[in-house]
Amino acid sequence: MSVPSNDDQKAFWSSAAGPKWLHFETALDHIFQPVLDGVIARAGVQTGDCVLDIGCGTGASAVQLGTLAAESGCVLGADISGPLLERAAVRAQGHDHVSFIEVDAQRHAFKKATFDHLVSRFGVMFFDDPVAAFANMANALKPDGRVTFGSWGQIQANPFFTFAAQAARNIIGAPPKIDPDLPGPFAFRDPKRVLDILAQAGLQDGQCDTVEVMLTPHGSLAGFADMVLSIGPADAAITHFDAAPDQIAALREMLQDTFAPFDGPEGLRIPAEINFFSAGKT
Ligand SMILES: C[S@@+](CC[C@H](N)C(=O)[O-])C[C@H]1O[C@@H](n2cnc3c(N)ncnc32)[C@H](O)[C@@H]1O
Repeated sequence: MSVPSNDDQKAFWSSAAGPKWLHFETALDHIFQPVLDGVIARAGVQTGDCVLDIGCGTGASAVQLGTLAAESGCVLGADISGPLLERAAVRAQGHDHVSFIEVDAQRHAFKKATFDHLVSRFGVMFFDDPVAAFANMANALKPDGRVTFGSWGQIQANPFFTFAAQAARNIIGAPPKIDPDLPGPFAFRDPKRVLDILAQAGLQDGQCDTVEVMLTPHGSLAGFADMVLSIGPADAAITHFDAAPDQIAALREMLQDTFAPFDGPEGLRIPAEINFFSAGKT
């Protein structure tokens, strides 16, 4: 199976997935806020720090990091998707110390020894050569700089994906299996593999906390089903089989039934397994 290249990722995150992430920005940021909280808590960004936010998407993390670093610090959000960065720039208006660049973080020659922190929420699992990517990004860190990021844990521990995949299989069919080690959401599910990547990239003292995080989508189950229909495994099945409108409508209903067991008096509560990694430059 060939490895999707970073150019493929650029096309995906700009054309196919980009508009959907823009459309569901508020919902996605709300759902994934606990992951950002986990990254921020572990990174320990201080006033005056400079932070490189990799795969920053529409900028939620960059803006929050900008508040922590304050105007005496700086945040640079790096992403391969132009449309997501356009939105990030709008969200960061008024924060002059938060800026963005459209680059392939694996290859871009970042200014050397500039950043105290490299952080990411779900933005570092898509490189076609992860060792080269981390080695390259590490050059941008100051000698005492640290890397901190969150990625999805084991597939079976993440019903956000498995339940959606099951519903899509039932209604539309199963697209060809993709090796989860390839660039994609689960590429960093195995802590041992990732710690090895970080070590090969020259980073020191790699550590992983695997944590159960509660995802709490806001709004109705129907609204959540609409979103799940548009991203991840449901979207992959719809695209692969070029699903007909009646199949898509049936899948929307099936998604509501599938996720209903997670709905209760406090709203939707979906457990997720997240790996929080950290490592040092020296
Ligand atoms: C799952 S999204 C996460 C976005 C954002 N961090 C968030 O949590 O909302 C993955 C992001 O990684 C970006 N990305 C993928 N490959 C990249 C690369 N080689 N260089 C920079 N960004 C990349 C995508 O464009 C996308 O914005």
